[in-house]
Amino acid sequence: MSSLEMINTAKAMVANDKGLLAMDESNPTCNKRFAALEIPQTEELRCAYREMIVTTTGLNESISGAILYDETVRQHLKNGTSFVKVLTDAGIIPGIKVDAGAKDMAGHAGEKITEGLDGLRDRLKEYAQMGLRFAKWRAVIAVGNGIPTRACVEANAQALARYAALCQEAGLVPIVEPEMLMNGDHTIERCFEVTEEVLHVVFEQLYAQGVMFEGMILKPNMVVPGLACPIQVSVDEVADATVKCLLRVVPAAVPGIAFLSGGQSAELASARLNAMNIRFKSQLPWALAFSFARAIQQPALEIWHGKEANVSEAQQALYHRAKCNQAARRGEYIAATMDKPQENIL
Ligand code: 13P
Repeated sequence: MSSLEMINTAKAMVANDKGLLAMDESNPTCNKRFAALEIPQTEELRCAYREMIVTTTGLNESISGAILYDETVRQHLKNGTSFVKVLTDAGIIPGIKVDAGAKDMAGHAGEKITEGLDGLRDRLKEYAQMGLRFAKWRAVIAVGNGIPTRACVEANAQALARYAALCQEAGLVPIVEPEMLMNGDHTIERCFEVTEEVLHVVFEQLYAQGVMFEGMILKPNMVVPGLACPIQVSVDEVADATVKCLLRVVPAAVPGIAFLSGGQSAELASARLNAMNIRFKSQLPWALAFSFARAIQQPALEIWHGKEANVSEAQQALYHRAKCNQAARRGEYIAATMDKPQENIL
């Protein structure tokens, strides 16, 4: 892909108020989600689950691209059609998670560094030949007493930037995902401070590595208090803090910001994205979109439960959540009518 094609792909990933479906759980993560629901953790069932997702009728109305995993890009529907082809034929751009996971960082208790740079150039070449058009790399930053350290932030930012440069060399649009975890009792102010610092360092490194901002997508966390923080805040406060933080650090050349959900409930993730778009959409240089995994998939996974008989109902739930998030991009998501009223939406 030329630079122009990458720029057009990045724009297409956030066009028409659509967003990305992250269905790139690694086998250990997918197995963990299955185990929590007592679904057997087999390759066959992982394949059946992904078949349920990619054959959902109408998913392309609200989903622009899907992030897959190495196992999944090599899997097929029962009729033999590859998942990559099913998505491409539906007008959904296929992409791939290429990091090798977050590992304990030497000498830095409680912190992680994402691995996967070795051999990445060859893997990206193969993925591009398979028809994949974008990639994803996730860095994980824990917030706590004395962490993140500058060492953790810089090492992860540099890995993200080196990955992004390799992607663009191979003609793939990089999704750059630095995730501040919601675990812990930190306040929203602390999340703001850490998110601002991390994004600042990430963009400094992306610039240093020569990454073309017009041909990438940023996938950040929303600015939220830790799950155990005694002071929780309203949907509008999250919207204000998140946009204020992003405006400070994300260059206007970046076409789109697609949030991760990070363990928020599906309804809360939609409500917060909705509030950002209602309050700020007309004033922002980039699109505010979504790249949710759990906040789109979880209700469908719970209904599907590993059973063929539940496929149709699970697909309806998946379709519904994708639509809710498209509505949120338009500032038209109304929790009370589109979803059951949620006690946890402040
Ligand atoms: P969640 O939306 O479940 O946080 O997942 C997004 C993702 O792709 C994590 O890398």
